[in-house]
Amino acid sequence: MTDSLNPGLEGVAVAETRLSQINGGQGNLAIRGFPIDELAGNARYEETVFLLLNGRLPTSTEYADFRDELSSHRQISEEVQAVLRRAAREEKPAMDALRMGVAAANLGVTEQDQGEDVRRVIAVFPTIVATYWRYRQGKEPVTPRDDLGHTANYLYMLTGEEPSEAQVAGLETYLNTVADHGLNASTFSARVVVSTGSDLVSAVTAAVGTLKGPLHGGAPGPVLEMLREVYETGDAERYVRETLDAGERLMGFGHRVYRARDPRAAVLESAAKRFYIDGGDADFFDAAQEFEDIATDLLSEHMPDRQLETNVEFYTAILLDGVGIPKDLFTATFAISRVGGWTAHALEQMDDNRLIRPSSHYVGDTQRSWTPVAER
Ligand code: ACO
Repeated sequence: MTDSLNPGLEGVAVAETRLSQINGGQGNLAIRGFPIDELAGNARYEETVFLLLNGRLPTSTEYADFRDELSSHRQISEEVQAVLRRAAREEKPAMDALRMGVAAANLGVTEQDQGEDVRRVIAVFPTIVATYWRYRQGKEPVTPRDDLGHTANYLYMLTGEEPSEAQVAGLETYLNTVADHGLNASTFSARVVVSTGSDLVSAVTAAVGTLKGPLHGGAPGPVLEMLREVYETGDAERYVRETLDAGERLMGFGHRVYRARDPRAAVLESAAKRFYIDGGDADFFDAAQEFEDIATDLLSEHMPDRQLETNVEFYTAILLDGVGIPKDLFTATFAISRVGGWTAHALEQMDDNRLIRPSSHYVGDTQRSWTPVAER
């Protein structure tokens, strides 16, 4: 008997999860039962992670304790700093630097404690990204501050200046919105790794590598470049037509699961609006919305049988730019959020594990016979 062939594992369910629920047809997303728009605008990132890990919102004492536990793990070792300095000097992309930093995150850790491992790995992500970025700017890293929350501290470590409330709120909404999303490719990587009995740091390192690609988390940088280019030329329709006629994909559109507008786009759109409409570059924001309308229309003309709508990355680019996150750090900032989902999924997989090991259909040569090297 031959197993059925499902390229890209489309439509194949390989796990039960209690973390996030996606309705791709209707365009809905809930995290542990909370609709994404309600969670994103209300939670602090630490609350979202607590919710993912524990299945319920923390009490105020639990929240304060969890926040303290995370902040106590923010420091990175000199050895990791040295790796990041070298990565910055060689102008490696931020996601490469993050992968190298995360892989070394348990240096000096001798005792095994799963809870501590989870908190440490989540806590060091912003420090790794910000340290790399400071070196890229030719500056010294900024020491993390215990009195700031996870989100505010990340922004503080990037610049050395305390961020505004608006910046923190905008980034907090973003981090909450993208913290988990079903069995996306990077989460799947993390689950595959722990399904073999391997460890959490290995799982998260593999997930970082998976998130990097433009078909997954690497899209928002190109989205911003596209929108800036179109804003300057003022001809969205021509840009979209030329892209589609060339057989290329329009970044920030289309999704494996959604056959509707990605619900996270609406959350990020309204969070982004605040940075542009009041005293910001309102014209750019209007142009981006107009681009979205034109692109959606032309995509449906181009591919009437496949509903291609805005995905999360379109307004990610606009929001993160408004908050002041450098374009080169967009995907790494995505990882700073998604590590909450990766670790929660890894624990869920460990709790009820079965080795993830699909099969393949062999389509290569058969019945060959060996020729010694001298006769080839
Ligand atoms: N622009 C133009 N055509 C597209 C797009 C797009 N953005 N997305 C899909 N298509 C087309 C494909 O070319 C394909 O056409 P074909 O059958 O003639 O080859 C058809 O739609 C189906 O596409 P698939 O690649 O089979 O769909 P899949 O589910 O694998 O793709 C993906 C999802 C990778 C996100 C895709 O829509 C894409 O490449 N989008 C652009 C990149 C992007 O925005 N990435 C961020 C995704 S969100 C996230 O991961 C956080």
